[in-house]
Amino acid sequence: MKPSRTLTSLLAPPEPLIRNPREHRRDAPLGRWNLYIGGANRHVDGYVNLDIDPAPGVNVQADAHLLPFRDALFTRVECDAVLEHVVDPERVMREIERVLAPGGWAHAVAPFCHPFHAYPSDYRRFTPEGLRSMAGSLEVIETGWRTGPAATMLVFTIEFAKMLLPWRWWRALAHGLLGWTLWPLRYLDLYLLRMPYAYRVGNHCYIWLRKPVKLD
Ligand SMILES: C[S@@+](CC[C@H](N)C(=O)[O-])C[C@H]1O[C@@H](n2cnc3c(N)ncnc32)[C@H](O)[C@@H]1O
Repeated sequence: MKPSRTLTSLLAPPEPLIRNPREHRRDAPLGRWNLYIGGANRHVDGYVNLDIDPAPGVNVQADAHLLPFRDALFTRVECDAVLEHVVDPERVMREIERVLAPGGWAHAVAPFCHPFHAYPSDYRRFTPEGLRSMAGSLEVIETGWRTGPAATMLVFTIEFAKMLLPWRWWRALAHGLLGWTLWPLRYLDLYLLRMPYAYRVGNHCYIWLRKPVKLD
């Protein structure tokens, strides 16, 4: 028998990570049209939600390698934890560049030290420099870490413990027990993300990009 969804969500431990507050930018407003890539099973207010999976919350089912939109349509493009799941992230970045309006903002997030997770596949990991190298003609405004070394340590500790256990129910129990015990350690990242060596074992990194306004 499957446990009910309410019971599962009540027992689910808090996430073993917190986001770097410095990632948020107030000066990147939404416009009339904004694109969220990879929001299956999510409602993303203010965005056209595009995903390869026709799941609840998705407005447009399409492949990010070939966005079904005209050039320069969107004021904001969000690509959060998607680049590791596509065969050709460079091509996805070129599509983001194409559909972004001059003066528009793009924001991408990708894992560096994070366990394998397939949506539907998982191809690679990124560094801030790697994201920067894919900017093309977009101006790099900022790169940084969304989640830091404490998040890495926690997600790998939990994964490692689960890997040692042969049965699904034991793994679920370990996930709950370790998750509920260890989660306060996530706040270490508020301090660790200020350390110069945090980048060596950062968890997810981000980049903010802006499309230059052409002055003729
Ligand atoms: C890790 S999830 C992202 C979750 C969400 N952005 C968040 O942060 O909660 C990755 C998403 O990318 C979608 N995806 C994978 N490959 C894709 C592609 N080629 N085109 C569009 N979406 C894709 C998956 O279906 C999945 O919904």
